[in-house]
Amino acid sequence: MADQLAIQGGAPVRTKPFAGWPVFGESDQQALIAALQSGNWGKLQGDQVRTFEKRFAEYHEARHGVAIVNGTVGLRLALLAAGIQAGDEVLVPPYTFLATASAVIEANAVPVFVDLELDTFNIDPKGIEAAITPRTRAVIPVHLGGLPCNMEAIMAIARRHKLTVIEDACHAHGAAYQGHRVGSLGDLGVFSFQSSKNLCSGEGGIILTNDDELAARCWSMHNCGRVPGGAWYEHHVIGGNYRLSEFQGAVLNSQFDRFDQQADTRDRNGKYLAGRLAKLPGIYPQVRTADCTRHGYHLFSLRVVADEFGMPREVLLDALKAEGIPTSPGYLIPLYRQRLFENLAFGPYTSYRASQPNLDYRKVTCPNCETISYSQGVWLEQRIFLGTREDMDDIAAAFEKVHAHRDQLAPAAG
Ligand SMILES: Cc1ncc(COP(=O)(O)O)c(C=O)c1O
Repeated sequence: MADQLAIQGGAPVRTKPFAGWPVFGESDQQALIAALQSGNWGKLQGDQVRTFEKRFAEYHEARHGVAIVNGTVGLRLALLAAGIQAGDEVLVPPYTFLATASAVIEANAVPVFVDLELDTFNIDPKGIEAAITPRTRAVIPVHLGGLPCNMEAIMAIARRHKLTVIEDACHAHGAAYQGHRVGSLGDLGVFSFQSSKNLCSGEGGIILTNDDELAARCWSMHNCGRVPGGAWYEHHVIGGNYRLSEFQGAVLNSQFDRFDQQADTRDRNGKYLAGRLAKLPGIYPQVRTADCTRHGYHLFSLRVVADEFGMPREVLLDALKAEGIPTSPGYLIPLYRQRLFENLAFGPYTSYRASQPNLDYRKVTCPNCETISYSQGVWLEQRIFLGTREDMDDIAAAFEKVHAHRDQLAPAAG
């Protein structure tokens, strides 16, 4: 029967692969070879990384960009540049990649988890306000999947309480909030260019800021504590070698030539798919707020509510896979439930022992994060959104088909 579910032996909705990632061609090859032949392979000798820093910063409306080896290092250097000290508290969401919180530990400070808004998957500004203590110094909003956080509310709270705002924009290249690109809305913004990211060079990252002093500190720390114009073996502050190579700079420059068009395509396709899927009972695509003027769509996220849709998440994802639609359940464990936090396995970073001797992440609960992680969250990857309207129609058709056959699959649970 043509209409039978693929998981039960029917024909799948989709047999063609979706768009692949990374996208590259002749221009990337030429850029890499030119970097090779220049003989200038390090950032301090060549001009590829420097050129890219300028281009990426300008595109995101920031005065300064300091490229670094990855987003994790970028977050830690941003915290150090902001003057975070031992025992300071930094507010972070629990629904994010580990680095948002581990960078805080590696800055010798203490991450404090603040729950999400269920509909946007982003940190809840009300939760930020409630979590502030006399030790709170900074907040790291993560633009989850590329949807800008409620920056107006976050900045207002931060200014009132003198907190530094470090945007974790590792999912949000080119995303815009009220017409302005993210990454330059807070005091500092951090992006990743790791392989899966919407702009990538295998590994890499960048810190953006509009603050000259913060930029100077980041530059110095990423270059072994040197200062511009200083001697090679002259070191002013603690830092390390976190510089990108010219090969990465060359790839980033050629990849960046395609970026804006790719970002528009993702945004258009993501918006269209969200509109189609929202019509199904129990499917709640991440809500695109009125302030979001471009969604980055590093991830297309949605919630499935089992008793409304007619089956639990895992049953849906297996059925979609059989229909030729690749999905993922996303982050399955709230960060505070990772062993690292439950066991305070922080290595030498034990500043909390003096300032927060009763720190116990086993007592932390963020109900919205747990709902999304444990039962409702579903992701589709950014590469899929580089395809066509017909690709989106196939995805929607597969969801609709599985829903129509819900009675033949496992009964709803919770
Ligand atoms: C939200 C978020 N923050 C930080 C990072 C860290 O970036 P990187 O992998 O470049 O260290 C990532 C990337 O994996 C991420 O997804």
